Amino acid sequence: MPNTAKSLKPNQRHFLDLDRLSKEDLRKIIDVSRALKAGTHPFAKSKPLEGKSLAMIFEKPSTRTRVSFELGMKRLGGDTVVLERESSQLGRGETVADTARVLSRYVDCIMVRTTREQKLMELAEYSSAPVINGLTDRTHPCQLMADVMTFEEHRGAIQGKRITWSGDGNNMATSWIHAAAMFDFELNVACPEMLLPPKDVVDWAQAKGAKVRIVNDPTAAVAGADCVVTDTWVSMGDADTSDRHNMLRAFQVDDRLMAAAKPNAIFMHCLPAHRGEEMTASVIDGPQSVVWDEAENRLHAQQGILLWCLGLI
Ligand code: CP
Ligand code: NVA
Repeated sequence: MPNTAKSLKPNQRHFLDLDRLSKEDLRKIIDVSRALKAGTHPFAKSKPLEGKSLAMIFEKPSTRTRVSFELGMKRLGGDTVVLERESSQLGRGETVADTARVLSRYVDCIMVRTTREQKLMELAEYSSAPVINGLTDRTHPCQLMADVMTFEEHRGAIQGKRITWSGDGNNMATSWIHAAAMFDFELNVACPEMLLPPKDVVDWAQAKGAKVRIVNDPTAAVAGADCVVTDTWVSMGDADTSDRHNMLRAFQVDDRLMAAAKPNAIFMHCLPAHRGEEMTASVIDGPQSVVWDEAENRLHAQQGILLWCLGLI
């Protein structure tokens, strides 16, 4: 993938995107997260991050990412501090590079939710502490760790399974494509022609041998699927236009679409959800939905990510 930061230090354990970690490290993070949830990992009962602190920068709103990182860090014995764009000097034009230099004198790890990927990369370039991508316009890798964990809790190993994305080709779709290549599952992507995920990401995955297919028709895309996944039609920063809604209407996940997948297919959504738009209430509130487990698993997966970034696993 294009690396917009000129000089990331080679040994720093940044969690910037799934395609930048090894398959082995990603698997280790998932396995540790599951063991922490089950209470079987030694770190579930100790405070391995005592004396460590995490700064969280939010340039966009958040409920799950903020709460799960804060409580995940605290469960491991660490401390957190939150900076929001408008109430910090970032909102008055202090550069990302200077913010990174200063914060990494105070804290051991930085999580950032921002707009352009370039800002994430600049933060990583100038920070001496590991940086975690808490969502950009382009990707949302922390969510995928919770999503893979959730799939495996319900349906066993994700390797070789078929997942179908139906909806906007947004940051979540891009991270699902990364995940398909890194965790070796099939991914059918059904999106409107105008809202396809970035071509370079699809090309990258296919070049790695990943079974990622763009399938225009959502009904064809869900055939044989073990999991159907979607996301909001209007991501943070998108214009909420009627054109957008009209383009996406045919990709709504409803009972008819779920019925065209495998009979035991699960439904996933990173949340926040909009009933009557990307999926019907009958799907998200129905028996195939695992969205609350998925939200809970953010708490466990963040701990795995933090432990990896800080070199404890
Ligand atoms: N899924 C997710 O990242 O939710 P928040 O925007 O609430 O953090
Ligand atoms: N695609 C959504 C994900 C929210 C967690 C957004 O970027 O707003």
